Amino acid sequence: MTESEIESVLHEDRQFPPSEAFRKLSRLSSEAEYQKLYRESIDSPETFWGRVALELPWMQDFDQVLDWSNAPFAKWFVGGKLNASAVCLDQHLSNGRADKTAILWEGEPGDTQTYTYKELHAAVCRFANALKARGVKKGDRVAIYMPMIPELAMAVLACARIGAAHSVVFGGFSAQALRDRVEDGGCTAVITADGGWRRGKVLPLKQEVDAGVEGIDSVHTVMVVRRTENEVTWKAGRDVWYHEAIQDVSEDCEPEPMDSEDVLFLLYTSGSTGKPKGIVHTTGGYMVGTYLTTQYVFDLQEDDVYWCTADVGWITGHSYIVYGPMANGATVMMYEGAPTTPHAGRFWELCEKHKVTIFYTAPTAIRTFMRLGDEHPERFDLSSLRLLGTVGEAINPEAWMWYRKVIGGDRCPIVDTWWQTETGGIMLTPLPGVTATKPGSATRPFFGVDAAILAEDGTELGPNKGGLLCIRKPWPAMLRGIWGDKQRYVDTYWSDVKGAYFAGDGARRDEDGYFWIMGRVDDVINVSGHRLSTMEVESSLVSHPKVCEAAVVARPDEITGQAICAFVTLGKDVEVTDALRTELNAHVAKEIGKLARPADMRFTDALPKTRSGKIMRRLLRDVAAGVESSGDTSTLEDFTVLAKLRGDGE
Ligand code: PRX
Repeated sequence: MTESEIESVLHEDRQFPPSEAFRKLSRLSSEAEYQKLYRESIDSPETFWGRVALELPWMQDFDQVLDWSNAPFAKWFVGGKLNASAVCLDQHLSNGRADKTAILWEGEPGDTQTYTYKELHAAVCRFANALKARGVKKGDRVAIYMPMIPELAMAVLACARIGAAHSVVFGGFSAQALRDRVEDGGCTAVITADGGWRRGKVLPLKQEVDAGVEGIDSVHTVMVVRRTENEVTWKAGRDVWYHEAIQDVSEDCEPEPMDSEDVLFLLYTSGSTGKPKGIVHTTGGYMVGTYLTTQYVFDLQEDDVYWCTADVGWITGHSYIVYGPMANGATVMMYEGAPTTPHAGRFWELCEKHKVTIFYTAPTAIRTFMRLGDEHPERFDLSSLRLLGTVGEAINPEAWMWYRKVIGGDRCPIVDTWWQTETGGIMLTPLPGVTATKPGSATRPFFGVDAAILAEDGTELGPNKGGLLCIRKPWPAMLRGIWGDKQRYVDTYWSDVKGAYFAGDGARRDEDGYFWIMGRVDDVINVSGHRLSTMEVESSLVSHPKVCEAAVVARPDEITGQAICAFVTLGKDVEVTDALRTELNAHVAKEIGKLARPADMRFTDALPKTRSGKIMRRLLRDVAAGVESSGDTSTLEDFTVLAKLRGDGE
């Protein structure tokens, strides 16, 4: 078996076609229609995407749909001008949606706010003017480090309005992680809040920002939204309260006409090597892609109440809380807090209270709820739900069945959506009125997505053969590069497989053409749907003075999908104690964020290595998972190392 051929062990034969009731009302309801549109999108992508793009309000028409002459650097809707915030807001002021609810928000403590499209437009204009007054301008980069409050969506749209690229950093990342991103992006301003509510406690965001931007000269402004009213320290001249900054500014702010290929945002993501990559998305293609996927994948109807539980700090929140749904004029629900605070039925209580119709979440959340017991969802009326979705990692068939039965009342279709920060929008997905779903499969490609299972030499593999999941044609919402590093973009995504985009997932395609994701083939761990690089966790461990060497691998975990297992070699005379474990965990939390803390930490005198000195991760993965290594160990330098590790190495 070669590296790219991956053995598949999952067999799942159940199929769930959409119910007649769902099909009748859905946007797209027949296989023939799907096939016709899909064929057109692949055979004549310029006709297909050119037509879709014209549904957006352009400020200047584009004169070419796609320029792929400089592949893999794509240009979509060449010559066109538009503004993403105008697509999300201004068009709805005159299309009958001005008084429709745009954001329906609930804080963790239970406070609520709603904004109509008209109100959101005014708030975004004021925010944009406040940023302008501080000297933020077109072409700048602005870091956003906030809790899930309406001002987060407003901040994103305000940046888009004035043509500054936003770089949202998830509020769970540490000051150090924020610093790396602010520096790499050359951000001139940071938007944050005093704090946010999470599990009944205040996350002190402003404090992290103070530590994170200390000494970075490019940052001239830190704008702070008041949320938790905790004490904050203040740097005069640099810091400004948002509520003061928006006081004397106008409610009118003309949207900046942006070239279709102007940068809309950067979003950092982990890769298997090197520092986090600033994934670059541009304006026209990204808006067209997120607009269309939201419409078809979620079968969006005018009166839907749509809730995607992701944080705006991840790509899912960018594409499917802000840009996609708002480009479609949807009513978007946002929730600040943890899924189980103050009680295990919190999500279901919110579904009942706000009459949520479309619910999009991560498999890790579903597994958590499944374990907490059916009595929690059963306490609430979930009959408003009509469609469920998942994203971020593969969902195991058992959790899928539970989701369908207990949350969806056996009535709601489930869309298991596969995509990535780099793809900008959903790539593999059922279309809920058409596709018969199979538990655990993201089913088939969306329009315009030429997905295939390839071997490293670019040949297509046959049914049920595991291989590399690749995309062979450009698509509008694709990344345009890595910030500041053109070559890394080519090397990372377009060099492993000849002529195709490949970003790390292994998969197989079954006899019906359905895709089954088999996980990452590189050194990226997916914990609770969040990508972390083993290398980054390793380097943070090694940066601790007591650590000599560290190897980090993933092991399967029932709730989080994968968990981080660290094998650590300590410096001479360092004693293994519980205090040391705590210290190392705290160190990783400080360097990267709490989500990167190893679930298991094993101390060992030596790591298994090949004779050439490479750490044998395959063996460590087996040790971490508690299974016998079946693979070849003939290159292992010192057999006793492995034996010691199995004995827990302590
Ligand atoms: O491994 C795949 C997994 O998440 C990776 C992308 O992570 P990120 O860029 O953080 O974006 C997450 C949200 C789009 C993929 O390479 N992944 C995402 N969705 C699925 C998935 N794995 C299996 N099934 C999915 N539906």
